[in-house]
Amino acid sequence: MGCGGISGVWLSAMRDRKDVEIVGLVDLSRENAAKRAEEYGFSKAAIGSDLEAMLVGTGPDAVFDCTLPQTHATVSTTALRHGCHVLCEKPMAETMANARAMLATAHDAGKTFAVMQNRRYIPGILALRRFLDSGAIGRVTTVHCDFLLAPHFGGFRDQMQHPLLLDMAIHTFDQARFLSRQDALTVLAHSWNPPGSWYAGDASAIAVFEMTNQVVYNYRGSWAAEGLNTSWECAWRFIGDQGSVTWDGGVAFKAQVVAERNGFIYKTRDVEVAFDAAVPALTGHAGCIGEFIDCVRAGRTPQTEGADNIKSLAMVHGAIAAAQCGHRVDCVNL
Ligand SMILES: NC(=O)c1ccc[n+]([C@@H]2O[C@H](COP(=O)([O-])OP(=O)(O)OC[C@H]3O[C@@H](n4cnc5c(N)ncnc54)[C@H](O)[C@@H]3O)[C@@H](O)[C@H]2O)c1
Repeated sequence: MGCGGISGVWLSAMRDRKDVEIVGLVDLSRENAAKRAEEYGFSKAAIGSDLEAMLVGTGPDAVFDCTLPQTHATVSTTALRHGCHVLCEKPMAETMANARAMLATAHDAGKTFAVMQNRRYIPGILALRRFLDSGAIGRVTTVHCDFLLAPHFGGFRDQMQHPLLLDMAIHTFDQARFLSRQDALTVLAHSWNPPGSWYAGDASAIAVFEMTNQVVYNYRGSWAAEGLNTSWECAWRFIGDQGSVTWDGGVAFKAQVVAERNGFIYKTRDVEVAFDAAVPALTGHAGCIGEFIDCVRAGRTPQTEGADNIKSLAMVHGAIAAAQCGHRVDCVNL
């Protein structure tokens, strides 16, 4: 459902699977659906522009919701009510109320509802998580990350009130939860649209989260930062009580831990972050889709299930609310 830009990544992952059949492709624009079927070789798939009619006509086990943030709630709940498991593109919903309604519908239907968080399935993030879990830098106290890019998308993002926080930051905030294994308690935020920005809404934001276990997480982001770009996975620094580690979002890690505890500035030594050991068989979108399919078949819960992912979404909507009101916002009871 939804055959625009990102659907190509999903269909390319599905083309490599022999255990799943794509029975239908739906888009408001029938032409988009037909084009995708042709591009990715799904010639047997039914093509349509009406989800309900497609659900009745093809009776699928699962629906992939690749529509826009503002249509996820309607599309995903329609599919759930028709007895389908759903894997939905991020961000789950435009509002927390809609997200809660989606979870309630999934619960009532007894179906799996999960969200695409492809960053959780990339080698670098898995390597960093394993390194942090090893305790090499001790207890993590502080997390900093920079997301500074300048994409000229055109399309729906250019018109959103909070393109960076609502459409993109969900990836980053979910990464922060995944890596630190902590959840957000409160957030202070400032968002703005820098002069010269090509977005209608706020393309830049700074947010500081108080996380569980006394961790502080500091986010600086912009979609209107020309030059010296970070990666899409962000540039990260984790500070622990024994040392620090940085990751450029690609393959570059640096870590140092205290070697000798005496003097004004303690001596440190470099530590290696093992990278190769972390490479999974399926990465990115294919990894998240693969886990969803495996879990549906085995009756297990995928790590990106909606009931957990709503905690990442609360960081998004908490940051937007904090930026709008100028005060600290509670992320837990949002
Ligand atoms: N996980 C990622 O890395 C990643 C990357 C890009 C986009 N996305 C997400 O994917 C979603 C889609 O983004 P995109 O870049 O493909 O957008 P897009 O505008 O290129 O495509 C959206 C498609 O959905 C169709 N559509 C919209 N409303 C619909 C509805 N109610 N019913 C049926 N079809 C409908 C549109 O006609 C269009 O073809 C967004 O939520 C976006 O945030 C995720």
